[in-house]
Amino acid sequence: MLTLGIETSCDETAAAVLEGIREVRSNIVSSQLVHSKFGGVVPELASRDHIRLIVPVVKEALDVASIRLENIDGIAVTCGPGLIGSILVGLCFAKGLSYGLKIPYIGINHLEGHIFSTILTAPEIEPPFISMIVSGGHTDIVYVREFGDYETVGSTLDDAAGEAFDKVAKLYGLPYPGGPDIEKKSQKGRPDFVRFPRANVPGYDFSFSGLKTAVLYYLRDKGEEVKKEHLEDLASSFQDAVIDSLVEKGIKAAKDRAVNSITVSGGVASNAAFKERMCSDAGELGIRALFPSQELCTDNAAMIAAAGRYRLENGESSSMDLKPFPRMHL
Ligand code: KG4
Ligand code: ZN
Repeated sequence: MLTLGIETSCDETAAAVLEGIREVRSNIVSSQLVHSKFGGVVPELASRDHIRLIVPVVKEALDVASIRLENIDGIAVTCGPGLIGSILVGLCFAKGLSYGLKIPYIGINHLEGHIFSTILTAPEIEPPFISMIVSGGHTDIVYVREFGDYETVGSTLDDAAGEAFDKVAKLYGLPYPGGPDIEKKSQKGRPDFVRFPRANVPGYDFSFSGLKTAVLYYLRDKGEEVKKEHLEDLASSFQDAVIDSLVEKGIKAAKDRAVNSITVSGGVASNAAFKERMCSDAGELGIRALFPSQELCTDNAAMIAAAGRYRLENGESSSMDLKPFPRMHL
């Protein structure tokens, strides 16, 4: 069975071909560069770029997989949450293909896609487990009772973790998206240079806006010079504060729900220091932490295809009147 996955919910135009439930035959992601000069995603520009890129990206996914359109058995496409104009491009394209090829298609929640990204790397994983989705738009802790049966036990009360990386990177004078640059600078910095605050939020929820404000005030009080002399230390001190919160809450949820696996996905999961700390702290408690490979951490269509294949095999499919959902819960 060959599934074509399509993902256009934000600023990545992505298409992938999945064979069976986990063999990724191709995974093409075209990241839109147009947004970097604005320091964030401009929705109108994102939609226009998706329109320009969707056909070449899907063609490339088919070429790399060495298949033709006629070989596809089903289509999975992100139908939310995300930017409505962006989702609409992928969704309409998928509907058109489905109608033209007379094959089923299914709309997939982007967050369920992130949960399935780990399954592509660690197919042996069985629910129940805790899944953390840590990206530019989300910081969620999900209890996966069964595939398809999810309970969001915690999320951010304000900024997402990736958003905090992006905003602080901007304060540090680093380009968007900020996560990769902050990680790179952190490698040569001291995490204990400044003790930025860790939000004291009850339960499994997060808050990162206070941390961002603390960085802002620190830079204001110390002046521009500190950025020049201690950028690596500042990056490392900020990153350490985010990692502390993520690791603490993720492990707390796993312990309280008595599960022995935590999966972590989303752009921030590609941060090596986060992965290292999560794996070692969880490991000490006998909990296995699983992170997908780098290209499956950030937004991609292979994870959408994996979630779609699971649902299509369960006999589900979407009708032509399915709408895009800018907000959508698991
Ligand atoms: O999952 P993703 O590609 O897109 C969504 O937001 O859905 O995640 C992008 C986010 C950005 O905020 C980016 O700064 C962050 O993930 N990110 C990182 C790293 N790589 C990407 N954050 C920390 N460390 C990284 N290495
Ligand atoms: Zn995402």
